[in-house]
Amino acid sequence: MSKPVSICVIGSGYVGLVAAVCFAEIGHQVVCVDKNEAKVKTLRDGGVPIFERHLPELLARHGGRGVTFTTDLAAAVEQSEAIFIAVGTPQGDTGAADLSHVEAVVSQIARSINGYKVIVEKSTVPVHTSERIRRVMHLNGVAAESYDVVSNPEFLREGTAIVQFLHPDRIIVGANSNRAAGLMRRIYEPLTSGSYYELPNSLPGACSLQCPAKLLVTSAQSAEIIKHASNAFLAMKISFINAVSNLAETVDANIEEISAGMGLDTRIGPSFLRAGLGYGGSCLPKDVAAFQWLAEQQGVNFQLLDEVRRINEHQKELFFNKVRAALWTLRGKRVAALGLAFKGDTDDIRDSAAIGIIKKLLEAGASVTAYDPAAMERAHELLPPSEKLRYAGGIFEAAQDADALLILTDWKEFADLDLERLKQTLRFPIVIDGRNLHQPQQMLDHGFTYISIGRPAIYPPHAGDARKLAV
Ligand code: UGA
Repeated sequence: MSKPVSICVIGSGYVGLVAAVCFAEIGHQVVCVDKNEAKVKTLRDGGVPIFERHLPELLARHGGRGVTFTTDLAAAVEQSEAIFIAVGTPQGDTGAADLSHVEAVVSQIARSINGYKVIVEKSTVPVHTSERIRRVMHLNGVAAESYDVVSNPEFLREGTAIVQFLHPDRIIVGANSNRAAGLMRRIYEPLTSGSYYELPNSLPGACSLQCPAKLLVTSAQSAEIIKHASNAFLAMKISFINAVSNLAETVDANIEEISAGMGLDTRIGPSFLRAGLGYGGSCLPKDVAAFQWLAEQQGVNFQLLDEVRRINEHQKELFFNKVRAALWTLRGKRVAALGLAFKGDTDDIRDSAAIGIIKKLLEAGASVTAYDPAAMERAHELLPPSEKLRYAGGIFEAAQDADALLILTDWKEFADLDLERLKQTLRFPIVIDGRNLHQPQQMLDHGFTYISIGRPAIYPPHAGDARKLAV
């Protein structure tokens, strides 16, 4: 492997922490900085602040050795050749990303710079951020030859972020100087040469020595656009299939069959064609808004993005209407809600469709018993337990005597349900599945009323057709 690089990662959220442990995993010396003292203490003490597969394992392997944690940004900058900025870029009021954290960090870097450094934007940022970073450095009196700014967007999916970091589809390096591009190539060399995959303890995944990771060098502006355009495209795919699912319902077609058929076309591909409650999370909604804002600023008509967002919002309303139609009235009903996270395998509830739907159910007078394998603690902050909202310790506790069961997040555990036991536990055997985790025929065989997305609703004989009763 090439010579290790001393790396500083600023921010220990999902992106920063994953990047920090993964850089250590591929042999670099990393210091991870966060201004939150409690978080740094947790990490130093061997704690794992977020739910992410393989993170505990890699923290145990490298914590305190290949990766250390500190609140001292100046010292971390001084000892590093590459400085990755991975702080939050929340959505501002206009839809534009709020870059105040990035700006604050850059000013601090400027005050600590003691030799040539490569400053890398890892946070999702709009085009021209690298230019703005350069301006802040300049205003703080740093000579242009003391640093380069590189855009190296991450394409990680929460839950599988570590494996994706080490086995990426692509690594994008937006660098306007050869020197900076050279350092970035050195950093990723264990992945692009494939040498990492030959190590005895390397985490397995899609890449190998024969098929190593690909690295594409572009201009900084192109790299910044690639990130937003990729997320906007994924959101568009989801909204597209959700719109098709609504059409499928009206003609008694099955969206799962349609997605499978479309996905076999290699030009379309099977991923991101799962119909459901729409996209959520901390990235897709924010990035579509930020990309749209950018287009507006540049005077470019990109109304397609408006429609992508509209379909996404509408999808949640349609689901809520299905619940109401199935239960007739919501006031006084008890509903079991499986899932709080914005998708399975994460404890993240940011922009989660599940949270929005539970709120609406409570507003409509229903009481809810919710369960999620990982996200309950976080959900408490947004939806505190009350007389109307209880958190259960498991699926069947949530389902006990409920008038209906809703599936709101695609956890595997919810797909592997013991259907017979579920039927005995519920007050009425009604399942409304926002993630299409079950097979309609199987649900019918077990005597459930089963309503899902983009597939004919299933009613056992004599149960009546709630669609006809919908108001
Ligand atoms: C997304 C992108 O997939 C990553 O490539 C990107 O790096 C990341 O944002 C980011 O910008 O940081 P993530 O937000 O972790 O990753 O989650 P996804 O797996 O993309 O799912 C997003 C939402 O779309 C979830 O609510 C999920 O349930 C939904 N989804 C996904 C569907 O409804 N249908 C699908 O077929 C796929």
